[in-house]
Amino acid sequence: MVGLQYSACLNSYFTASKHSLPSALKLWLPFTPTASSVPFSLSQVEKPSTGSPRLRYSSTAVAEDLSKEEQRPKKQLRSPDLVALEYRELNLPRRTSEDLGHVRIRQHVNPLSSSFSMPVEAPEWNCVFKDPTLPLMVDIGSGSGRFLLWLAKNKSGFENYLGLEIRQKLVKRAESWVKELELGNIHFLFANASVSFNNLISSYPGPLATVSILCPDPHFKKRHHKRRVVQKPLVNCIVDNLTPGGKVFMQSDVLEVALDMRNMFDEKLDVLQDVSMVDPNMSCDDDGWLMENPMGIRTEREIHAEYEGTKIYRRVYLKLVN
Ligand SMILES: C[S@@+](CC[C@H](N)C(=O)[O-])C[C@H]1O[C@@H](n2cnc3c(N)ncnc32)[C@H](O)[C@@H]1O
Repeated sequence: MVGLQYSACLNSYFTASKHSLPSALKLWLPFTPTASSVPFSLSQVEKPSTGSPRLRYSSTAVAEDLSKEEQRPKKQLRSPDLVALEYRELNLPRRTSEDLGHVRIRQHVNPLSSSFSMPVEAPEWNCVFKDPTLPLMVDIGSGSGRFLLWLAKNKSGFENYLGLEIRQKLVKRAESWVKELELGNIHFLFANASVSFNNLISSYPGPLATVSILCPDPHFKKRHHKRRVVQKPLVNCIVDNLTPGGKVFMQSDVLEVALDMRNMFDEKLDVLQDVSMVDPNMSCDDDGWLMENPMGIRTEREIHAEYEGTKIYRRVYLKLVN
């Protein structure tokens, strides 16, 4: 019954919104719903006078962030609620951030400042990963870390996951979540990826299978473009270290930033290939941007951007085997 009500509401949502069904489905569900797995019922779909369509729901039990709202009969679903929903499987404890003190995060840092100029030392890989010979995925600018935690939890045994993040408080909290979840295949490092990537990755015992750079800080002003994390030396370093058949997944909700990254990776098309050329399941729009996030889980920035109705510009590159 709940499932029926839910899918009827989703259908109205697809009709009411500009999302295609698959991406709208991802907006709501990181897994296929069943009557028992759906934690709430959508009770009303409404289009506000301006902006994207909004959903109202009555919640019965979802993630911690929603629990206070459960007493209220109806509530507008907001972007942070969608983040909680997307990652609800992780069941991340709220008390962790309280233990760490109030995690107030500065909006941006300047990666060119002298305090971020030294490469960090590589950890003892066998101390941070249960099996340090597994293929490695590195997420550059991992933010809160929830995206990578979700992958580590759901793909345990196949890959190791390393998040590089320049804001130390985010790393501290993400690492505390790693402990809480008792995962042996994920680690977060406080590092400026621009200066530390090579040092870290060249010492890793297994192959570098995937590098993701997802919604990097845009640094809009022209004089600040040099602060952007994707610069030619980092691109060279990623491509050199990537194992044959390995992937680079990049995306941004800012076209200019996506084009900037794309131009730099396109310069390496002698050793990289755009995945949509070889995988018919990876469909692109007319401008060559992937229509779907191929990871099965969205990042937080991506959730916020899609909630606002913003397009995400994505590319996946494969490293050629020879
Ligand atoms: C806009 S957030 C996106 C976070 C996440 N990837 C997402 O899509 O939700 C960009 C993140 O990159 C981090 N960052 C920026 N420059 C960096 C650098 N040079 N090295 C490592 N992290 C960096 C920022 O601190 C921030 O957490």
